[in-house]
Amino acid sequence: MAFMRADIWTLEGNQEWHPVTEAYARAVAVMKTRPASDVTSWRFQAAIHASSGGDWRQQCQHNCWFFLSWHRAYLFWFEQIVRAAMKEVDEIDPEVREAWALPYWNYSRGGTYASLPRAFLTEQLPDGAENPLYVRERRQRINNGDALTKEAIATTEAFKAHTFTGFDGGFGGAATGKNHLDQDPAGVAGRLERTPHGSVHNGVGGPGGFMSLFETAGLDPVFWMHHANIDRLWAVWITQGFANPTDDRWLTTEFEFHDEQKQLQRSRAAGVLDTASNLGYTYEDLTVPPAAEEAAAMSRAPRPDHPPELVGATDEPLDLTGRRTSVTFGVESSRGPAAASERAGSERLYLSLDGIEGDRNPGTTYGVYLNLGDDDEPEPHYVGNVSFFGIEKSRDVRSDHPAGHGLRYVFDITDTVAALRGRDRWNPGRVEVTLAPLEEDEPVATAEAVGAPIRVGSVGLYVQ
Ligand code: C2O
Repeated sequence: MAFMRADIWTLEGNQEWHPVTEAYARAVAVMKTRPASDVTSWRFQAAIHASSGGDWRQQCQHNCWFFLSWHRAYLFWFEQIVRAAMKEVDEIDPEVREAWALPYWNYSRGGTYASLPRAFLTEQLPDGAENPLYVRERRQRINNGDALTKEAIATTEAFKAHTFTGFDGGFGGAATGKNHLDQDPAGVAGRLERTPHGSVHNGVGGPGGFMSLFETAGLDPVFWMHHANIDRLWAVWITQGFANPTDDRWLTTEFEFHDEQKQLQRSRAAGVLDTASNLGYTYEDLTVPPAAEEAAAMSRAPRPDHPPELVGATDEPLDLTGRRTSVTFGVESSRGPAAASERAGSERLYLSLDGIEGDRNPGTTYGVYLNLGDDDEPEPHYVGNVSFFGIEKSRDVRSDHPAGHGLRYVFDITDTVAALRGRDRWNPGRVEVTLAPLEEDEPVATAEAVGAPIRVGSVGLYVQ
C-alpha cells in the first residue's frame, strides 16, 4: 500500500484538529521524552541536522546537488520513526497510525495557506495538554497567524530552471563532492534551496528563531512539513519533463540514517528517485503552483556550452547589517567565447555573490535588485532572494579547512536584463546591485542574532 502525504491545510479545512495532525503532535511528544542519545528521539533527529556534536550530527547536505536527495531520505526515515512512536499512544486510532504519512505545508498556494497551519499556533491540544507543535521561537507575526511574504514563498525562479544542476545552481544545486563547502569553488545552492526553502526558514524563524539555524531548525515541528513541501516541489518539477542527474557521483553517494528499530540504514539518490516505488509514498497534489506555470512552460533552449566569463566585479566586500545596501561596479565586454554570443544577442548573464561569510544566520532574507536606483517600482529590477540558512556550517568548515570559500549564490539575470533594456534602465558598462530586506526584522527569542553581520566577499557579473 502506498502512503499518501496530504496537504495539512486541507486536513485542517475539515476540522481544527484532524486525526493525522493530532497523531503527529502526540508522536512528537513521545519522541521528546526520549533521551538525546536515543537515535529515535526528537532531539537526536533534529541534531542530525545540527552543526555541533559527534559523527551522527551535522550530516545535512546544503548548497550542493545532494540537498534534495539527502533531505528526501532524512524525511523518509523520520517518518518511519514518527509512525512507530504512535504505537506508544493509546489515544491514536490504529487505523490512523497505520496509514499515517507526513503532511506537507503547501505555502506555495499563497494567501492564507502561506500562514502556519492552526495546529502550530495553539498552545494546547484538544484535551488541554501542552501542544508540542507550538514553538515560541518563531517570528512573532508568524505565530500570530500572519502569512509569509510572497517573495519568500515564490516558486517562479525555481521552475524557470530547466536543468537540475548548472552554473547558477540549476534547480537542485551545483555538482560537488559530499562535503561541499570545503571545496574550491564552494558549492552553489540550487534555486529551490534558495527560494522558497531558505526564505521560508528565515520567514518562520526570523532573527534568533529555531527555523533560522541549522542546529535548531529540526526542533520546530513545522520544519518537517516545510521539507515535505520542498520534497513535493521536486516531484512536481519532475512531472514537467525535467530530469535528475545521471552522474554516478550523484546517484551512488551514500548517506547514513537510522530506522525506527535504531538500525543503521544507507540511502543514496538512486534509491529515492521514485517516491512511490522506492519509498512507498505519493503526494496528494503534484500540480505546478499557479504562479510558476508560466515559468515551467518557458523556452527550453539549451545553454551555450562554453563556460561563463567574469566581466566585472566589486573590489570591496559588502557588509549586510539588516538595511538596504547597494554597490556599483564597471563591466567590460567579453574577450572569450562569450563574445560570439554577445554579437549574436544570445548571451546569458549571471550575477554572482561570492565568498559569503558570517557566524550565524541573521534570519533576514534580502531581495536582490539590479539597477534599482530610485525607481519606486522594484518589480522589474528584482532577481531573487538571498538568505543565509546554513552559514554557520561554512564557518565551521572554514576553521578546519582554510581553503573554504563561504557560501555562493548565482542568479541567471538574462530575463531581468532584457526587461531593463526595454525600460532603458540598463547600462552595459556599469551595474548597480541592491540588497534590501524582504521584511522588517524583529528579534525573536534572543537578541544575539540581531544584526549578526554577513560579509559578501564580492559581487560579480558573468556573461556566457
Ligand atoms: Cu537541512 Cu531546510 O534544511
